[in-house]
Amino acid sequence: MSRIIIEGGIPLKGRVRIQGSKNASLPIMAACLLTQEAVELEGVPDLEDVRTMSHLLKHLGVKLQHIRQKERIKISKWSLQNYTAPHDYVHRMRASFLVTGPLLARFGRVKISLPGGCAIGNRPIDLHLKGLTALGAEFSMENGYIEAEAKKLQGTKIYLDYPSVGATENIMMAATLAEGTTVLENAAAEPEIVDLANFLNALGARVSGAGTSLIRIEGVSSLHGTHHTIIPDRIEAGTFMIAAAISKGEIILENVLVEHLKSVIAKLQEAGVYVEEIFDGVLHVAMEDKPRPLDIKTLPYPGFPTDLQPQFMALLTLANGTSVITETVFENRFMHVEELCRMGAQIRIDGRNAIIKGVESLRGAPVYATDLRAGAALVLAATAAQGVTEIRVAHHIDRGYANFDQRLLKLGARLRRTERKVQVRT
Ligand code: EPZ
Repeated sequence: MSRIIIEGGIPLKGRVRIQGSKNASLPIMAACLLTQEAVELEGVPDLEDVRTMSHLLKHLGVKLQHIRQKERIKISKWSLQNYTAPHDYVHRMRASFLVTGPLLARFGRVKISLPGGCAIGNRPIDLHLKGLTALGAEFSMENGYIEAEAKKLQGTKIYLDYPSVGATENIMMAATLAEGTTVLENAAAEPEIVDLANFLNALGARVSGAGTSLIRIEGVSSLHGTHHTIIPDRIEAGTFMIAAAISKGEIILENVLVEHLKSVIAKLQEAGVYVEEIFDGVLHVAMEDKPRPLDIKTLPYPGFPTDLQPQFMALLTLANGTSVITETVFENRFMHVEELCRMGAQIRIDGRNAIIKGVESLRGAPVYATDLRAGAALVLAATAAQGVTEIRVAHHIDRGYANFDQRLLKLGARLRRTERKVQVRT
């Protein structure tokens, strides 16, 4: 079991370069299934989830070269080997389900393991299935696998009951090769959807309206190759901004799209954090005092992102007063609360609300990371805590943050990482 051990109380100072977006890379990699032509992706972060998606694409027959240290993926002309996405890929990473739309559109068949739930919620896929069925796919379920066939997908009008990011992506990708036009209403508007739409259009698709709740896709007969650079990761940027604030340090972030962080910057400034764009794409973040308390409600973009809720909660545990965080996107995304309370935080959960009473300081303690963003939140809390914190099951963090511990070390954190073999009791 991997552990990160941190001695807190050291302000983080220095420069950090934000990597490409995990949540743009994964759908864009899946979209490569829509063409047999060569594709080159730049700015792909070297993350465990990206490696999982690479293995899955290769399993399907994609000729893929992942040049990790150059953050590059090169795909050469390929042909489908099979249309099955086995359980161990989907179990390891739910986003594997994003190959469903492209496989249906391109090959008319897919067999994929049902993605289970995870620590933050049961993560249903009903909206994905509703949209793909509306396009003409016929689904059946057997032994934990979903099988689907579609002679030729037909464009249609689809209304999403909830602006699901994944469902918007799966349906948008499938519709690019459908007959006729698809109109997707109440679509998700996250920046990662826009980056995917830009990539699809670079392949020759006809997608318009991405970034709004109404997306129109005119089907085309086939798609060609392209070269695309992934947008920077707004969640990683937000995580490092909060790291500067909670440790009372000063960090310069490079390769940031401020446009994607408006709600996060507004909330940090409301808490009294200094945030200034000093050059195009370069953010200066600093904090000397305790944060002011405030209320946050997580919402679909452009609202405050649920993926920064745990990290911001860690900051608010040290505020001068009481804050309330309402998590409206996932039904169980407070698993980090208990762990923060083990470090001396005073947090009470009331349904979808977490009431956080600010304390003078946190104290180091052994804690468990339940998912990648909760793990990041515990690391941030540990940098501010008095004493030593040991974060267990730290490998969750590797799924969404490349070399997180190394980059924090460069910012002055006193931390080390151990990989302990788990004693299996016989
Ligand atoms: C994407 O997950 C992100 N993952 C998540 O980031 C992010 O938290 C989430 O969007 C919300 O922004 C990737 O992009 C790979 P949703 P996704 O479908 O697509 C319900 C991280 O830490 N829902 O928008 O799975 C669902 O239960 C991860 O990087 C249905 O009810 O999110 C949830 O309550 C965590 N039926 C809500 O919608 C469906 O068919 C939002 O889910 C689909 C979703």
